Amino acid sequence: MKYGYFDDQRREYVISRPDTPLPWINYLGSEAYFGLISNTAGGYSFYRDARLRRITRYRYNNVPLDCGGRYIYLRDNDTGEFWSPSWQPTRCRLENYVCRHGLGYTIIGSSYQGIEAQTRYFVPLGDNLEIWQLTLTNHRPRPTHLSVFSSIEFCLWDAHDDATNFQRNLSTGEVEIEEGVIYHKTEYRERRNHFAFFACSEDLDGFDTQRDVFLGPYRGWDSPLAVERGCSFNSIAHGWAPMGSHHIQVALAPGESRQIIFLLGYHENPPDQKFDPPGSQRINKQTVKPLIARYLDKDNVDAAFEALRAHWDRLLGVLQVDTPDVHTNRMVNIWNAYQNMVTFNLSRSASFFESGISRGIGFRDSNQDLLGAVHMVPARARQRILDLAATQLETGGAYHQYQPLTKRGNDEIGSGFNDDSLWLVLSVAAYLKETGDWSILDEPVAYENRPGSETSLYEHLERSLRYTLERLGPHGLPLIGRADWNDCLNLNTFSDTPDEPFQTATTRKGGVAESVFIAGLFVLAAKEMERISESVSRRIRDPQFYAEAARRMEAVVLEHGWDGEWFLRAYDAFGRKVGSRECEEGHIFVEPQGFCVMAGIGLEDGRAEQALAAVRERLATPHGIVLQQPAYSRYYLHLGEISSYPPGYKENAGIFCHTNPWIMIAEAMLGHGNQAHDHYLRINPSAREGISEVHRCEPYVYAQMIAGPDAPTHGEAKNSWLTGTAAWNYVAITQWMLGIRPSYEGLQIAPVIPDDWPGFKATRVFRGVTYHITVERVGAGNTVSLIVDGQPIAGNIIPLPPEGQTEVRVEVVLK
Ligand code: GLC
Ligand code: GLC
Repeated sequence: MKYGYFDDQRREYVISRPDTPLPWINYLGSEAYFGLISNTAGGYSFYRDARLRRITRYRYNNVPLDCGGRYIYLRDNDTGEFWSPSWQPTRCRLENYVCRHGLGYTIIGSSYQGIEAQTRYFVPLGDNLEIWQLTLTNHRPRPTHLSVFSSIEFCLWDAHDDATNFQRNLSTGEVEIEEGVIYHKTEYRERRNHFAFFACSEDLDGFDTQRDVFLGPYRGWDSPLAVERGCSFNSIAHGWAPMGSHHIQVALAPGESRQIIFLLGYHENPPDQKFDPPGSQRINKQTVKPLIARYLDKDNVDAAFEALRAHWDRLLGVLQVDTPDVHTNRMVNIWNAYQNMVTFNLSRSASFFESGISRGIGFRDSNQDLLGAVHMVPARARQRILDLAATQLETGGAYHQYQPLTKRGNDEIGSGFNDDSLWLVLSVAAYLKETGDWSILDEPVAYENRPGSETSLYEHLERSLRYTLERLGPHGLPLIGRADWNDCLNLNTFSDTPDEPFQTATTRKGGVAESVFIAGLFVLAAKEMERISESVSRRIRDPQFYAEAARRMEAVVLEHGWDGEWFLRAYDAFGRKVGSRECEEGHIFVEPQGFCVMAGIGLEDGRAEQALAAVRERLATPHGIVLQQPAYSRYYLHLGEISSYPPGYKENAGIFCHTNPWIMIAEAMLGHGNQAHDHYLRINPSAREGISEVHRCEPYVYAQMIAGPDAPTHGEAKNSWLTGTAAWNYVAITQWMLGIRPSYEGLQIAPVIPDDWPGFKATRVFRGVTYHITVERVGAGNTVSLIVDGQPIAGNIIPLPPEGQTEVRVEVVLK
C-alpha cells in the first residue's frame, strides 16, 4: 500500500494523505540554519547545533509524534469555523491534501470548504532564516472573510536545558515586538548575542507571544482560544513559554488569491553592538532589518527559491544515470544523493529518531557519510576532514563525537572505540581520488584542538594506523576497545547495572577482546595508505611498511579469523570466539564478511566466495540482510548491548541496513552483478514503496534498521534519514555496480551489473571534466573495453584529458 507517489520530474515525493504511518519528514536548509518538517508541518528549527542553538521547541515523546511545528490556522470569520491547512494540529477533514517534499523545501496544501491554502517552506541559500510562503485562494462563489494565525513556540536555546530546567526557565523568557516583528530574546541581556525573529509581510491585526494566553487554560494546539474567538490577545511573554503568533484578517472576493509571507530566523549581533540605544536592554535591530525587508518581498522570495533549485540541480548534476531500473535511477539521481547531503550535514544529530540533544558529529559516522557527498561538495568535505582530524588524540585514537557548534571532542563519550581513526584514512582516500588535491595532506592539524600540537594531516593518518598496530591482542588481531563499528558489541564492559551506559561504562581492566572487523578495516586502510605514501615526498614510512602491515594482518585473519565457512566476528575477553559455529547463538555476523572481502582477504583462495555464499544462505531475507544469526535470545553479560535488544531489532539480528552495501560491494568485487543488485533492491526505499504499510518509514530515504525475521514486525523500518546506509548504498550502486569509480589516476569504469541489463548511460563530472558514458552489454560477463573519444584505450581507467578539454565521450563494451 502507498501513501503517495514519486514525481521524478519535479524531484519530489508527493504524499496524498496526511495520516502516514509515521511522520514522513524532510529537511530545510543545508548550511547553518536547519529545519525538520513533517508532512503535517510538524518539526523544529535550529542554527548549526540542534541542542545548543535550538530556535523552536519540540516536545519529546509527545503524542501525536510530530508536534510542535510551523502551524498556520485559518478561521472563517463568518461562521467561526477554523482549521489547519496542514491537517495538524486541528485534524479537520481536508480536501485535496497534498504534501510535496522536494530538495530543501516542502509544500503543503489543501482545501477546506472552497478555501485553498498552500504553504511553501524553505531556507534560502546563504541566509539564516526560513520562509513560509502562504497562498490563499477563494474558490467559493461568495466573498469570504478569513483570519490567518501563524504560530511557533520558541525554545530557550539549549534544547536539553529547555526540557529539564523548569525552575529557572519558566522565569527567563523575554520578547520584544516592533513593527509587527516578534523578537525572541531570552538570555540576550546576559551572555547571548543572538536572538530569533518571526516576521510577517502583512499589517497585523494582533499578535501573541505568551503561549498559555494564546492557547487558553487547559487547551492544546488543536484549539487555541485566540483562534477560536478570532482575535489575538496581544500578549507579551514575561517568563513561562514565549511563542510567536501573528493575526491577519483577509477578505477574499470569489476567485481571488492572496499571498502572505512569514519569516522565522536567527541573528547574531556584534557583542559591542547588542543594544539600541547603547546602554539600554533593547535589541539592536538595525543589523537584521534589511534582511527581513528583503525576504518579505515576494519577488525576492521567488528568486531565492529558484536559486535553491539551481543549487540542487548543480549538486545532483555531478552524477546522473539512466539504467533499465526505475528504482536505481530514482535513488541515484535524486533521493540517495539528497540523503547523502543530509547525513553529511547532520551526522546523527537531529531527526525524528535522533533527538538533537544527545549525539553530535560522530567520528566514524561522518568519515563514512563523506564518502557519499565528496563528489558534490569537495570543499566542504575538505573542511570536514580537517575538523574531524582535529579531534584525534596524539595516540592516533579519536574522540567518538564532537559538538557541531564548538567542534570540540565530547568528553562525556571520550574515545576508545578502536575502529574510529581508521575511517579517517578511507575518507581522505576518497577525497584524494575525487579531487586530486594532494595539498590537503600538508595541512597542519592539531590534536584535541590544542593549539601548538599541529602536525600534517598526513601524520594524522600515519598515527591512525599506528594506533591499531600498537593495540593488538593475543591472536595478533586488533583489540576492540569499547566497541568497533558495531557499537553494541561491548566485549570488555560486563555491565550488570541497569543505569550504566554500555559503551562508556568502565572497561574491564586489561581487556583482550579482539575484532576481526577492525582487522579487515585495517587491511583496507593500510592498502590505501600504501598508495597515498607513494605520492608523498616527506614520508614518515615507506609504502612498503603499509603493504607489509596489510599482508601480515591478512595472514592473521586467515589463520585466526576464519571459522571454516565464513569470517569470525571477534574474540571475547576470555579469548573465546564470537560469530562462530561454536557459539551458542550468533554463529555468523555480516560485518566481517563484507569488510574482509572488501579488503581483498580471501579473494584468491575461495574464502571470499564461501563467506558470501554463507551470507546468502544464512543472513539474507526478502527485506535485506540481517546482522547476525541466530539472534541472541537472552542477555549475555560478556557481549554487551547487542544482546540487550529483543531478537530481530537493531544490532541483535535486525537488518542493520548500513552493512548491506558492504555485501553488495563484495559481491560486485567477485563479479556477481545479479547478486549485488538483488541485495540492493531489497532495501532500496523506492522498491519498497508498495509495502509502505509494512515498511512504515519514508519511501524516499534509507532507514537505519528494518526489523529482522526474528521480530514480530519483520520488514518494519525504523530510524530513517540519519544513517551511514545512505553513503554506503550510494558507493555500492554507483562505484561498484555501475562501476563509475574515482581513482587516483582518473575515472575508472568497471560495471558489474545484472546480466539481463542491456547496458546503461551516465554523465559524471569528475575533476572539472564531464564524462558522457554509454555502457553496452554484448556478453554476460564483466570484461570492459573502453573507447574514449573514439579511440580504444587499454585498461579501464580513463586518462585525464589535456588541460582545457571539458567533455569526454566514453563508450564501454561489456562482455
Ligand atoms: C549507529 C551508530 C554507528 C554504528 C552503528 C552500528 O548507526 O551511529 O556509529 O556504527 O550504529 O552500531
Ligand atoms: C545504541 C544504538 C546504536 C548506537 C549506540 C551509540 O547502542 O543501538 O545503534 O550506535 O547507541 O549511540
